[in-house]
Amino acid sequence: MAVSPEDYGFDRDVVVIGGCGHVGLPLAIAFADRGARVSIYDVSEAAVASVNEARLPFDEPGAAPVLERVVADGRLRASADPAVVGAAEHVIVVIGTPVDEHLNPNQTAIPRALGGCAPYLRDGQLLVLRSTVFPGVTALVEKMIASLGVRIDVAFCPERIAEGKAMTELFELPQIVSARSPRGLEKAAKLFSLLTDSIVELTPEEAELAKLFTNVWRYIKFAAANQFYMMANDRGLDFERIRKGLTQDYPRAADMPAAGFAAGPCLFKDTMQLAAFNNNNFALGHTAMTINEGLPLYVVHRLEQKYDLSTMTVGILGMAFKGESDDIRSSLSYKLKRILEFKADKVLCADPYVTVDPNLLPQDEVIARSNLLVVATPHPQYRGLVLDKPAADIWNVLGAGVRV
Ligand SMILES: NC(=O)c1ccc[n+]([C@@H]2O[C@H](COP(=O)([O-])OP(=O)(O)OC[C@H]3O[C@@H](n4cnc5c(N)ncnc54)[C@H](O)[C@@H]3O)[C@@H](O)[C@H]2O)c1
Repeated sequence: MAVSPEDYGFDRDVVVIGGCGHVGLPLAIAFADRGARVSIYDVSEAAVASVNEARLPFDEPGAAPVLERVVADGRLRASADPAVVGAAEHVIVVIGTPVDEHLNPNQTAIPRALGGCAPYLRDGQLLVLRSTVFPGVTALVEKMIASLGVRIDVAFCPERIAEGKAMTELFELPQIVSARSPRGLEKAAKLFSLLTDSIVELTPEEAELAKLFTNVWRYIKFAAANQFYMMANDRGLDFERIRKGLTQDYPRAADMPAAGFAAGPCLFKDTMQLAAFNNNNFALGHTAMTINEGLPLYVVHRLEQKYDLSTMTVGILGMAFKGESDDIRSSLSYKLKRILEFKADKVLCADPYVTVDPNLLPQDEVIARSNLLVVATPHPQYRGLVLDKPAADIWNVLGAGVRV
């Protein structure tokens, strides 16, 4: 007779490895909020302490009150001790999977992180990979688990939330679940049914590509809009007026995004992961990268044609990688800053959300001391800002057009 999970004597329902991160923490909070007993294992002792004090280590709208509730009633607790992995029936891995400085993915990041937890992996657990992985990593982990001799099912269930929307999207988006064994698939579907009724079953290989295709599709769309922007702008035309005009009551083009810095910890690196997976034969992906990463260079080049930057103080408004976020990881605002520091007399930066950069100045001071401003992040606080100096605003947050 099959042994039921209870017979393995698990104290916790879920443990999230990397659970103090941007994706892991909202997920842990969401499961706890739906009644699961959740542990977090994370190597960051500072983040673990913060979570146990019911303080978010970063901003995530809607998460703070739920975190307080689930920590207070003991449904969520964090630890820097990998032994907590042994106490949970479902082990979810959500550690970061960046590409390196040469754009190579690291296929062993997850197996290595799991290696540290290997002594605590136990019969009857379900191991869920939730990070975005290089295709084939699920199969690699399956092999690793088999070599440990433990009876554990492996599933790959990718995270598809956007930062800042986790606390609604975790309950609203369909959850893709995949596993090689029918038992693993059933367990994964049951686990994610705690969050939503909408479960999509794929094979692990399909699910790995589904996640990468999702992000890369978005990155390519942003690149198309950014290229259109540069074409129009070079001809003295306002891309946003053109985009508004062509999308009005025209559903076939409704998904054309506005131009803007397409950055952050996911889209770029996932495009590079997919390119590496396809032996670097990915013209669309590489071109998208060149266009999106080239936009700050283009903006500065245009400004240089109009102004003698070497005599000017340039102020950058917005350092986070996207609006209403405090996350500066892979933000193109910092690339813009580096380029401007080389060209301009001085560069001053401000951001109403970012708390981790000691070089930022108050917004009023940046505006007062600058001769020229660049809106680099579309924070809503900038809407309606009245400036008495020129500003480059590819996002059109100031409402005066996007021409640079
Ligand atoms: N950020 C997003 O919006 C987003 C959305 C969907 C998917 N993803 C994917 O989710 C994964 C995690 O991304 P993130 O933004 O949450 O990263 P993150 O850096 O914010 O979080 C990762 C966490 O893992 C911890 N960690 C690292 N190595 C560990 C180890 N060996 N053992 C235990 N803990 C460890 C870190 O301390 C950190 O708290 C990535 O694969 C990413 O591509 C991210």
